[in-house]
Amino acid sequence: MYNDNPTLVGINKKIDEAKQGQVFFKESEEAKAGKHFYIESYGCQMNFSDSEIVASILGEAGFQATRNIEESDLILINTCSIREKAEETVRKRLRVFNKIKDTKPGTLIGVLGCMAERLKAKFLEEEKIVDLVVGPDAYRDLPKLVATAEDGEKGVNVFLSREETYADISPVRLGTNGVTAFISIMRGCDNMCSFCVVPFTRGRERSRDAYSIVAEAADLYENGYREVTLLGQNVDSYKWAHPEGTEEVNFAQLIERVALVHPDLRVRFSTSHPKDITDEVLYTMAKYENICNYIHLPVQSGNSRVLKLMNRTYDRDWYKERVEAIYRIIPECAISSDIIAGFCTETEEEHQETLSMIEWARYSMSYMFYYSERPGTLAERKYEDDIPLELKKRRLSEIIRLQNHISLEHNKRDIGKTFKVLIEGNSKKSDLDWKGRNSQNKMIVFKKEANTQPGDYVKVKITDATSATLKGHQV
Ligand code: 5AD
Ligand code: SF4
Repeated sequence: MYNDNPTLVGINKKIDEAKQGQVFFKESEEAKAGKHFYIESYGCQMNFSDSEIVASILGEAGFQATRNIEESDLILINTCSIREKAEETVRKRLRVFNKIKDTKPGTLIGVLGCMAERLKAKFLEEEKIVDLVVGPDAYRDLPKLVATAEDGEKGVNVFLSREETYADISPVRLGTNGVTAFISIMRGCDNMCSFCVVPFTRGRERSRDAYSIVAEAADLYENGYREVTLLGQNVDSYKWAHPEGTEEVNFAQLIERVALVHPDLRVRFSTSHPKDITDEVLYTMAKYENICNYIHLPVQSGNSRVLKLMNRTYDRDWYKERVEAIYRIIPECAISSDIIAGFCTETEEEHQETLSMIEWARYSMSYMFYYSERPGTLAERKYEDDIPLELKKRRLSEIIRLQNHISLEHNKRDIGKTFKVLIEGNSKKSDLDWKGRNSQNKMIVFKKEANTQPGDYVKVKITDATSATLKGHQV
């Protein structure tokens, strides 16, 4: 769920190198006179989505977004805690912001997101330049906290809510291509995977009002968008009950409602949990052409003992059964995964089982990491982080090598096929080429034909493939 390059490790920087600081914002007259903010996002798609909520809240309060960090009065960094590396990246950025503050002392610096939540007021001691520390459920409080900070007092709110879903806030689309957008459908996570810091930084799981989700999708469609990705840490446990008790909506019903917004609006979602993904979801995906044939189904490890230590609550056989169900009900479906190498006590044989799972499940791609112990997690408290770094890295490189090979094979099988592709924009390498995705979420690059533009669906025949991209021509 973190980026579209299957081979990248230490992913937290990545998307962001492409996107960070790219803020597009309609200038209202009121805002022009007011103050400017600049926001950078790291980590998962949820953080990028949250930054759009932050932009909306600050916009309402008269702040205008800017892409020029030098002209901003308020610099915000939306942070990720998932691995140590992610936090290091943020601290490095803070040092850069510090230099800017040296030349413009009035500039306020705010830390948002998971690191803010994890470190709370401690952040202010550790990083003296920080003026604001705001957790993921406290963004409505930002205008007040900024005002406090302007008066010279540090502003902190890391209160985690059981209700906040920002359902009523219309996100301001940042760095948008005008074609694809994220919609956050739930917040928090109740799963307590032993390696994961998310339940501590994002709090309890709660689902957003289904009507507000459908309305946001419809609004995006009206505004020219052609693809929405529904976001949650564990989308399959989405459950929203009407406050008057008149109806309950589960995830399968939600994707159906979003699919019905318009047949030309593609629906994607992330992340699915192997213990929760139901056949009902799979049948709904099969029923609607515009629900994409792609499931991100993190396995984490291919070995049942390690999965138990990870508290994933499924074993190897359960996972394989779910993969079989996917290929049976949606034969054209692509599956991707998250994999952790070198979790506590993992043996060589257990690592081999992860490798064999990659081959067996035929992942189109995976996000691959070595285990990074996080303070406060169950694993940190219960198990020794006993796999030496060198060994973790070796296992990870074996995983990456195999996945690259499987991705290449997966992609080569597409040569000669024709796909319906949604054009997203110029390819990275050439303005003469479009890039877009097929239903399986594969990036496809092809020559621009006359009278085509981003947001169009076109048929593309595949002629060439690498492990990361397909190439073809319009037919
Ligand atoms: N170390 C390494 N990888 C982790 N992930 C989550 N926590 C850790 C950790 N402590 C990975 C998992 C998860 C993805 C978002 O990040 O694979 O699915
Ligand atoms: Fe973390 Fe597990 Fe929740 Fe994903 S499902 S956010 S890995 S605790």
